[in-house]
Amino acid sequence: MNETLRTIKTRRAVRNYKSEQISDFELQEILNAALHAPNAMNKQNWHFTVLQNKDILDKLADRIIENVINLNNKALTNMVSAPGYHPFYKAPTVILISGDAANEFIQIEAGTAAQNIALAAESLSVGSCIMTMPNFAFDYEKAEALKRDLGIPKGYNHICSVVLGYKAGPTPTAPLRNAEVINYIR
Ligand SMILES: Cc1cc2nc3c(=O)[nH]c(=O)nc-3n(C[C@H](O)[C@H](O)[C@H](O)COP(=O)(O)O)c2cc1C
Repeated sequence: MNETLRTIKTRRAVRNYKSEQISDFELQEILNAALHAPNAMNKQNWHFTVLQNKDILDKLADRIIENVINLNNKALTNMVSAPGYHPFYKAPTVILISGDAANEFIQIEAGTAAQNIALAAESLSVGSCIMTMPNFAFDYEKAEALKRDLGIPKGYNHICSVVLGYKAGPTPTAPLRNAEVINYIR
């Protein structure tokens, strides 16, 4: 198996991180990989917010939990109320991916960027988890103010996040994949 295929297969959603920050070299390589993701007509109207400030991450985490509890959804409330739960799994780096709301393909493009981030991270032995749970930070009427505070460009929406950090513990085993979703027409 070549290195690329090995990286694709060994990457896992990591949910347990060391507090030690990743190096700037690793961060820049990972961000550069994001910028090289495929995107329709190469418009690149996406935006990456790199959060490495623990106070800001903890405030965002509290806001996510508060917004989730306000939904009155029992399963979600139980999840965020569980002892030790942290919406970013205490990862020291979080990349918020946002994009131009007027771009009809931006969700796909955020996905290609997120996957490049996750694969680049894995290739550097940095753990990652692509996440939509942090989207709850952007719920409700205060979302615009939060986007402004975080420097997310006007007219852009938050789409997903990728948390990054050194893995605390062994890489999780891969959840089973179902190959029956493939239909061959030959
Ligand atoms: C769009 C998207 C949203 C996700 N959101 C979350 C999330 O909010 N929390 C989480 O722990 N994992 C999240 N994941 C990770 C998935 O749970 C994980 O990729 C899946 O279980 C397969 O496991 P693997 O990535 O280790 O192969 C998300 C993944 C994707 C692609």
